[in-house]
Formats: sequence, structure tokens, C-alpha cells
Amino acid sequence: MGFKVMGVSAGRKDSNCDILLKEALLVCQEMGAEVTMINLKDYNLLDCTGCTACTMGMSMGKHTGCSLDQKDDKKKIMEVLLEQDAVIFAAPTFALMPSSEYLKFMHRNLAYETAFLTKIGAISHRDRVGALIAVGGSSRSWQSMTLECMQASTFSNSFKIVDMFTATMVPAPAQVLLHEEKLARAREIGSNIMKALNTPVAERKWLGEPDAGWCPNCHSNCLCLGEPQWRGLQYPIECAVCGAGGDLVKTEDGKWKFVIAANGLERDRTSEEGRGVHCDEIADTQGGFFMDPKKREEVASKVQKYKDIKFKGI
Ligand SMILES: Cc1cc2nc3c(=O)[nH]c(=O)nc-3n(C[C@H](O)[C@H](O)[C@H](O)COP(=O)(O)O)c2cc1C
Repeated sequence: MGFKVMGVSAGRKDSNCDILLKEALLVCQEMGAEVTMINLKDYNLLDCTGCTACTMGMSMGKHTGCSLDQKDDKKKIMEVLLEQDAVIFAAPTFALMPSSEYLKFMHRNLAYETAFLTKIGAISHRDRVGALIAVGGSSRSWQSMTLECMQASTFSNSFKIVDMFTATMVPAPAQVLLHEEKLARAREIGSNIMKALNTPVAERKWLGEPDAGWCPNCHSNCLCLGEPQWRGLQYPIECAVCGAGGDLVKTEDGKWKFVIAANGLERDRTSEEGRGVHCDEIADTQGGFFMDPKKREEVASKVQKYKDIKFKGI
């Protein structure tokens, strides 16, 4: 049987995200994939409540699932999505980042964190690839965090992102149909997904623009100054998405380049090993809190003051 490829759109129905995604998926289908596509607007999806039952369970070695499992469609979608060989996500840019509908869906992925669940033996490892399509009414400048936030929300399910594309200057419904080059780029996304799937796992690599973004590891365009991380690790500069650590170096032609340090991928968030360190961190910080009666008692004795403060609401 062929590869399974799914498209997830968070855009308006039959508008730019849907159209670009369909262009990409058509190529996958022509190349033999079994294709599924959903638009998140067709589903009942609730916001993560922040209950942390999932990570509390995982930090104690248990697979508790999500406390909203029976209340909306997330689990139903994930049961199909996690069985895919590849998923292409398409989201509209709202206020420089992906729309809240996309984020609402993806923030619920913590309960399905493959690194954490593999680490506690609840699931076995599965290799997946992915690609991202961002759509906005303006230039990349006004979509500065869309692909970055999208990628940050895909690594919890270990999607190896092989290509990503920002469709710029298409504010109106279906306006992308006026831009043949953007439709062609979406088709390239589809063919890159199939190329990756037809490549042995160990040899799968980034297939987008070779020099895309600042980060040579995840190709994000977003760097930040490094600060001490859990247990003191610190780099001068970090990639805001994958956490690669290194520094800015001036090249011979006078341009700045982000160079990853020798130990800069120790906590690479796109790898299960790297996220496994974060799993240990959560076990230490959150698990350490819940397992310590003194800490819990101290918080319980201090929190009432804040519960009693009632400012005027609206
Ligand atoms: C609330 C809101 C905020 C938006 N913010 C941005 C923005 O920051 N940058 C941008 O390029 N486009 C922005 N847009 C435009 C949409 O990204 C654009 O209409 C896009 O085509 C929507 O994709 P769709 O047609 O697939 O739904 C915004 C639209 C809305 C409704």
C-alpha cells in the first residue's frame, strides 16, 4: 500500500490555505499516496485547559491521555493523524502568527508528546515527515512568526519538517488563484513530501530552499539571546524554535551567519532525545513539586490571599 498523507487546514473554507493544501495533496495523490484532508472549522475543538494531567501522568511513568478526550473531536482526529506517514499543515496568519484555531488544535498535542510517551514505554517510535504552509495578506515581515509557531507546534509529534512556504500578499478569499507561482510552490511542497517519504529515514533531510531562515538546523527565521536553561546550559544565541545553540559569526562577505556550537544540538527540540531532556526537566520541576508535601503546603497556605483579592471585572 502507498504512503498515507494528510492535510490539515485552519483557513477559511475553500480559501487560500485550502487551495494551496489541495494543490500539494493532489501531487501526493498523483504520486501514489492515500490522501486525507480536514479543515479544522468542521470540528468541535476545545482549548487545552492547562490541567497538566497528561504531563503529570507522564512524569510518573503513566499514559493518562487528555482530560478532554471524551469532550471534543481532538482524539478522533489524532487517531487518524498519528497513523499518517506525512502531514501538511496550512494556517492563516493572524497578528503575525498562526490563527488561534490552528494553535488551539496544536496546543492539545502535549497529551500526545511522542518523545515523552516513547520514553515511558507507552508507544513505540514512528517516523513521520511534515511540511508547513503559511498564508497571509502581507509580506513575510507581517507573517514573521507564523512558520516558526507552526513548526514549534509540530515537533511534539516528531514530524520531521522537510519544507515550508509562506504565501504572501493574499488577503482576500481564494486570491491565491491569481498567483500561479504560489500554486506551483504548493505543488513543490507535495512533491518534496513524497521525495522525503521515498528516502530511507536516516537520509531524510530538508528539501526546501537550502539557505532558508537563520537556523541551519530547523530553518526558522527567529533567533534570541541565550539565557541559562534548566541545569545551567547556556549559549550566546539560540534558535527560538528548535533551541539550537551557537553564536553569530561574520562571514568573509560581511554577512552575519548563525553557527551552531559543537554541543549546540544537545537539546534540539526537533529530536526525541532533545525533548527527552525537557521530559526530565518537567519530571524535576512539576513532578518535584507534586511529590513534595512541604512545597504543596507552602503554596496552599499562600494562595488564599490571591483567591480573596477580587478586582472589578467586566
Ligand atoms: C484577525 C486577522 C488578523 C490578520 N493578521 C494578519 C497578519 O498579521 N499578517 C498577514 O499577513 N495577514 C493577516 N491577516 C490576513 C489573513 O492571513 C489572510 O486573509 C489569509 O488569506 C487568510 O487565509 P485563508 O484565506 O486561507 O483563510 C489577518 C486576518 C485576520 C482576519
